[in-house]
Amino acid sequence: MSFINETLASRGLPELPFDPDPEKNRQRIVDILSENIYGRTPDFKSEVSGKLTYRHEKCFAGHGKHYHYSLTVTTPGGDFSFPLRLSVPNTDKKVPLIVYISFAIDNPSGMIPEEEIVSRGVAVARLVYTDIAADSREDGFRSGIAPLFPRRADADDNWGAIGMWAWAASRSLDFLLTLGLFDEEKIAVMGHSRLGKTALWCGAQDTRFRYVLSNNAGCSGDALTRGKVGEQIADITRVFPYWFCEKYASYAGDAIAGMPFDQHFLLAAAAPRHVAVGASSLDIWADPESEYLCCKAASAAWEKLGLTGFIAPDDRYPKVGESFDDGHIAFHLREGEHSPCRADWNAYIDFLLK
Ligand code: GCU
Repeated sequence: MSFINETLASRGLPELPFDPDPEKNRQRIVDILSENIYGRTPDFKSEVSGKLTYRHEKCFAGHGKHYHYSLTVTTPGGDFSFPLRLSVPNTDKKVPLIVYISFAIDNPSGMIPEEEIVSRGVAVARLVYTDIAADSREDGFRSGIAPLFPRRADADDNWGAIGMWAWAASRSLDFLLTLGLFDEEKIAVMGHSRLGKTALWCGAQDTRFRYVLSNNAGCSGDALTRGKVGEQIADITRVFPYWFCEKYASYAGDAIAGMPFDQHFLLAAAAPRHVAVGASSLDIWADPESEYLCCKAASAAWEKLGLTGFIAPDDRYPKVGESFDDGHIAFHLREGEHSPCRADWNAYIDFLLK
């Protein structure tokens, strides 16, 4: 047994559910994760409409177009509106699309190198997560879409903010698909850190996203929880309980042994589609090794379907700067701190354009 497989075996992970029908398999995993970690996404049909509020047809020196929309979504509790921004390459061909769940509307820290993305022939749409639901414990689910969905007092599987943010990425896609601009086999959802967790949960539930791109999502996202260093369930549920359903906190500490899933389930819910994980070498809180092992552990979901899962040359851990992206699961280890940067975007776009 290789060193990596031994390390993985020592984590004592629960086995992935398996059904030869990938759709049944996915639904089973989504059910487990809804019940135990992210809560249940309300099940209803909504209509989404978009109003154009700004257009710039000769953006990026004429190589792209940029649009602002205000989307309105119908829900049983009333209509809800939020802004969406879209940059598209200047071409008549259908293009790949990344729906980016963003921290901010502006781009102060270079988190989205928009011109470079467009110059690679890829469109990027971004919604801002706090336009959907507050990222604040004090808010108590009183703002954004939260109050449109009354919380069930006796339940421990009410959806948390991650579920709400993920839901809005899907509603954004409802609208974006009406534009007829995109190659539907090359549609991705992406996020960083808490929004990487969100992108993974969105991709698990919405199969129209053919690629799920998770940057530095770490604890309760793209890193295995069992055997993880850095952030633990006890930490994340103490500071950010409202990201999850009520039940998740009950797995803190030794109770983790009874947790019926680990985070490889979340990646496996993307099978038979594509998923990419980006880790940062200095991001000890997220734990790059546990992010890598999560890809290894999820691989079985693809392999059992006769597809390539995660391909790690010589079954080894990558060197800093390397990207392993020959299977349906990609992993890259970037030098530096916890943040998305150009190297990450380029790794995801390489994978998307393969
Ligand atoms: C905190 C949190 C992480 C999260 C990160 C982020 O550090 O503990 O789980 O990923 O914030 O979203 O930037």
